Amino acid sequence: MAVHVPQRSTTTNVPPALAPGEPLLKVRGLTTRFPTKSGWLTAVNQVSFDLAPGRVLGVLGESGSGKSAMLRTILGLQPPTAQIEGEVILNGRDLVAMSPAERSAIRGSWVSMVFQDPMTALDPVFSVEQQLVETIRRHSDLSKKDAVDRAMELLTLVQIPSPERRLKAYPFELSGGMRQRVVIALALVSNPTLLLADEPTTALDVTVQARVLDLFRDLKERLGMAVIFVTHDLAVAAEIADEIAVMYAGRIVEQGTVPDIVRSTAHPYTRGLLEANVRPGQLTRPEAIPGAPPNLAKLPPGCSFAPRCSVAEDRCWESLPDLVTLTNTHSARCVRVARG
Ligand SMILES: Nc1ncnc2c1ncn2[C@@H]1O[C@H](COP(=O)(O)OP(=O)(O)O)[C@@H](O)[C@H]1O
Ligand SMILES: [Mg+2]
Repeated sequence: MAVHVPQRSTTTNVPPALAPGEPLLKVRGLTTRFPTKSGWLTAVNQVSFDLAPGRVLGVLGESGSGKSAMLRTILGLQPPTAQIEGEVILNGRDLVAMSPAERSAIRGSWVSMVFQDPMTALDPVFSVEQQLVETIRRHSDLSKKDAVDRAMELLTLVQIPSPERRLKAYPFELSGGMRQRVVIALALVSNPTLLLADEPTTALDVTVQARVLDLFRDLKERLGMAVIFVTHDLAVAAEIADEIAVMYAGRIVEQGTVPDIVRSTAHPYTRGLLEANVRPGQLTRPEAIPGAPPNLAKLPPGCSFAPRCSVAEDRCWESLPDLVTLTNTHSARCVRVARG
């Protein structure tokens, strides 16, 4: 059976109020603090970036750098005890300032999220068909039969072979890669303009990971969605993203296009991540950056990376370096780049 896959152009996917050239998402000074026994823990610290429609921003950083906390804050999924400052302006409206009800309506329509572990995103007691049809009918007034047709379209869109058979399957009957494709299909039900993906390929083995990355690229091309793709793997970020934001201790320490980050690397932390990256054909395992990220509840006054930085100077310990603009696409928070 031939399945019609709806194609959308980037222009129709842009919400109507967006002026040409305006970013779809503007994040400004976003800060998230959690109360802990040792005081406030700053998981996201003065984060700012723009994301244009149809672009992919890769957010790169070691575990504990605040990547997931940032995505959850953008989506408004933080607990009420969290202290949130700054702006998340999506299509001209500030999600931080909105009521929880308004935010949850946007979350169900323009913005979707794909989490790392497909098992937690799927309900083990319902078939793929039941879960997709239920979600489709929540987002539309389609009849049961039309919703099943739409579920088939979505499984085809995420390149699931034999979608008729997979539709009847339960999550445990599918491989990890197929489960993650179902999760991505669920995230696409509402035709999101912005897709947030939190390490969506980390739980998959390397070959399956490569295929799921291909799928993300294909979906981005076909649907023209903007994507924030969080990963701890520089090779994955370089493969999927147009731009990369490198996070360390809750802050963006370097930001630029993929060539800016990979070829004109400015921050010592990014350089450390590049050196720790396994390259094809490499025989010995590269060394990870020595030391560990700082305690986010007790951040030092200077550069958070100074204790692990092999080129740190006295002034790096004294005050937080400014974000230095290197070119119109590239910036880094390091005193050494300011010298040029
Ligand atoms: N709800 C929360 N309450 C307290 N601390 C949290 C909460 N969520 C995240 N954190 C802390 O914020 C920091 C960043 O976590 P996270 O965003 O999960 O990092 P990443 O996704 O980069 O691995 C960690 O120190 C984590 O323990
Ligand atoms: Mg995370």
